[in-house]
Amino acid sequence: MTTTAITHIGSLVTNDPALGEGPLGLLQDAAVVIEDDKIAWVGPAAKAPAADEAYDAAGRAVIPGFVDSHSHLVFAGDRTAEFNARMSGRAYSAGGIRTTVAATRAASDAELEANLVRHLDEARRQGTTTFETKSGYGLTTIDEARALRIAAAHTEEVTYLGAHIVSPDYAEDPAGYVELVTGEMLAACAPYARWVDVFCEKGAFDGDQARAILTAGAAAGLIPRVHANQLSYGPGVRLAVELEAASADHCTHLTDADVDALAQAAGTTVATLLPGAEFSTRAQWPDARRLIDAGATVALSTDCNPGSSYTSSMPFCIALAVRDMRMTPDEALWAATAGGARALRRTDIGAVTPGARADLALLDAPSHVHLAYRPGVPLVSGVWQRGARVR
Ligand code: NIG
Ligand code: FE
Repeated sequence: MTTTAITHIGSLVTNDPALGEGPLGLLQDAAVVIEDDKIAWVGPAAKAPAADEAYDAAGRAVIPGFVDSHSHLVFAGDRTAEFNARMSGRAYSAGGIRTTVAATRAASDAELEANLVRHLDEARRQGTTTFETKSGYGLTTIDEARALRIAAAHTEEVTYLGAHIVSPDYAEDPAGYVELVTGEMLAACAPYARWVDVFCEKGAFDGDQARAILTAGAAAGLIPRVHANQLSYGPGVRLAVELEAASADHCTHLTDADVDALAQAAGTTVATLLPGAEFSTRAQWPDARRLIDAGATVALSTDCNPGSSYTSSMPFCIALAVRDMRMTPDEALWAATAGGARALRRTDIGAVTPGARADLALLDAPSHVHLAYRPGVPLVSGVWQRGARVR
């Protein structure tokens, strides 16, 4: 057993209202003691118990490590040309996914894994200590299963997204593709995954197809989450609530009935907002204020993928959410940590409380507010993951 004390923390976000002030459970002049991979003690610096090792935070802020509950990191190639065209006026369309499918199918296992690890390292340097990632750029039984196998070697939060778009091989037979996704492909993928997801959108899968896919996934032991209401109004959000999905992701185009449904389901289905996608596709921002005021539970995540949102940076997403989605800095910090944990139905991460996993980020700033106040500045200067200093 090794204990490490982080002392002289100027401002500590615990996300436990019982430990400090407000919903973030804020503590000033605090200390945290880590024992192996867990938090052992949290409180005023003056009362910190002795530890084997000490780290002096010198008045800086400490927050829970970010929980990035939505990313697509098993892919090859990039889509610079598509981004360039979009920035000169072309609209985003789900059809671009086919470019990445072709590159991913052509890549070796080693290439896919190296690319995944490169993006994970990049995210970790920016404070992410838990991430979810999906398949969805293979769209054959073999390619989807290998994507999930590669992902599962690096995270326990793995999502089967065979239903990203209808495979180009089934362009003339979408019903046949749904049969594959709910049959042979699901059987091959389920052993590697915890979640099942579907892109419920015009040009991808309609409400009936999405229901069939999520229901089959649930029957195979996977928990649903849904790409919902990203590019247009549609049935995704209400389907997610009806099927008790862990999250409805994107939530950009919402009717009052969608917002009401998410508010009613606040204890079950999290509304996960992905501002990197709206930034990079020049789309309208999701209205976080409307969701929070209605009572929904909101998470923030990167959606990191080579098409619609090629950022791995949770601090960047926080800055966008505060500037453009009417979130306060406190709400955005909560959504990027505790909110992500809720979206992954995890109680061991997203908070700095005794017994929780020792996942922490140290900021070169006096408080978490600087993440939005100083956008684009690399403020994350220390990261502990499961108690080990990884940055
Ligand atoms: O979440 N919406 C669907 N899937 C991704 C985009 C994937 C891509 O463009 O490659 C998303 O934005
Ligand atoms: Fe996505």
